[in-house]
Amino acid sequence: MSCENKIFKYAMFVRILAFETSCDDTAVAIVENGTRVLSNVRISQVEHEKWGGVVPEIAARLHAENWRGALERCLEEASLIVENIDILAVTQGPGLQTSLLTGTTAASFLSQFFQKPLIPVQHIRGHINSIILERNLEEIKYPVLVLTVSGGHTDMFFQTSSIDIEKLGGTLDDAAGEAFDKCAKMLGLGYPGGPIVSKEAEKGDPKKIRFPRPLLGKESLDFSFSGIKAAVYREVEKSGEILNQVQNDNKEKFIADVCASFQQAVVDVFVKKVVRALERYPEIKAVHFTGGVSANTAIREALEKLCIQNDIQFRVPSKFEYCTDNAAMIAAEAFLQYQKDPSIAKIQFVDCDSRLKVN
Ligand code: KG4
Ligand code: ZN
Repeated sequence: MSCENKIFKYAMFVRILAFETSCDDTAVAIVENGTRVLSNVRISQVEHEKWGGVVPEIAARLHAENWRGALERCLEEASLIVENIDILAVTQGPGLQTSLLTGTTAASFLSQFFQKPLIPVQHIRGHINSIILERNLEEIKYPVLVLTVSGGHTDMFFQTSSIDIEKLGGTLDDAAGEAFDKCAKMLGLGYPGGPIVSKEAEKGDPKKIRFPRPLLGKESLDFSFSGIKAAVYREVEKSGEILNQVQNDNKEKFIADVCASFQQAVVDVFVKKVVRALERYPEIKAVHFTGGVSANTAIREALEKLCIQNDIQFRVPSKFEYCTDNAAMIAAEAFLQYQKDPSIAKIQFVDCDSRLKVN
C-alpha cells in the first residue's frame, strides 16, 4: 500500500519515528524533516562489558526486552503519541542478524497495528547522513568526502548529493573502532575501548612506541588495522608482567604510552588517506567524519587542521550522541530517501539483512 498521497506531499513537515537495533544499543528517535530532533533515546547494554565485546544472543534478548520502554520514553520526551507520527523507519542492516531482527519485527508490528508506513534504512547511510541532524540542509555543498568509522566499519565515500554515494575504500580486516576496542582489551581496560583508550592517550607520549602505519601501497584508499593491533599485542607481551601488577606509576605510564602511540598511528593513517582522496578529487568541498570513532578528539583535530589547510569545510555530527549508533540518524536517512521517492513508505513487514550494502 503506497503512501504517496496529498497529505505527505503538501505537509509542512514529516515526522519520522525510527528504530535502531543493529548492534548493542536499543535506540528510538523522533525527527522532523530529517533535521529537527524531537527526542533521541538510547538504552545501552552494559552486560557486554564483562565479556569484553558484544555477545549477539544477549544483545537480541535485551533489545526484545527494552524496545517498548525505549519507545515509550521517546514518545513521552517529545510529548507525542504514535498517532502523531507520519512515518516509521527501521535499520534493516548491516549488523548482527538477531539484533536487527528484533528491531525490524518491532517496527513492522507497529506499522501493521497503527497502519503507519514504514521505511527500511541502511545503517551506514544513516551514519553518513547523521551530519544533517540539527543542521540546515542548504548549508551542505557537495561533493563531500565522507569518512565513516565505527566498530564494524571503516569506509571512505564520495558523496555527490544527500543520496548519491560511491564507496572509495574500506577496511580489509579490522575496523578502526574494533582496533580501539581490542587495544583496550589487551591492556585490561573496559569496553567499549574507544573512549577509554582516547582518555588514557591524553596522559601518554604519542612518540614513545612507533607502531606501523599501513598504507597498502601508494594509491589505495582502503584501510588495514590488524597490523597495528598485532603490534600492540607484541608490545604488551614484551612488557612482561607489568599489566598484572597492582596499580603503580610504571603500569599507568605504560598503558598511557601504548594508548597515545596507538592513537597517533590511527590518526596518521586517516590523515594520509584523506590527503590521497583530496588529491584525487580536487572538487571536494568538505570532509565529513561520522560513526562512533568520530567522537575521538585527536582524529577530529587532525582532520580539521587538514581541511583548514586545504580551505574546505570540516564537519562532524553536531552532538556526540549522533556519532555512535543512534536512531535519529536512521530517521534522517529515511527522510532523505522519502523525499527522493515517497512510494518507499509503505505499510509493510521489513525483513532484516545483515549484509546490506550502501548501494
Ligand atoms: O557507530 P558505533 O556506535 O557502532 C557501530 O556501528 O559499530 O561505533 C562504536 C565504536 C566502538 O568501537 C567504540 O570503541 C568507538 O566507536 N568509539 C571511539 C570513541 N567513542 C566510541 N573510538 C575512538 N575514540 C572515541 N572517543
Ligand atoms: Zn554504527
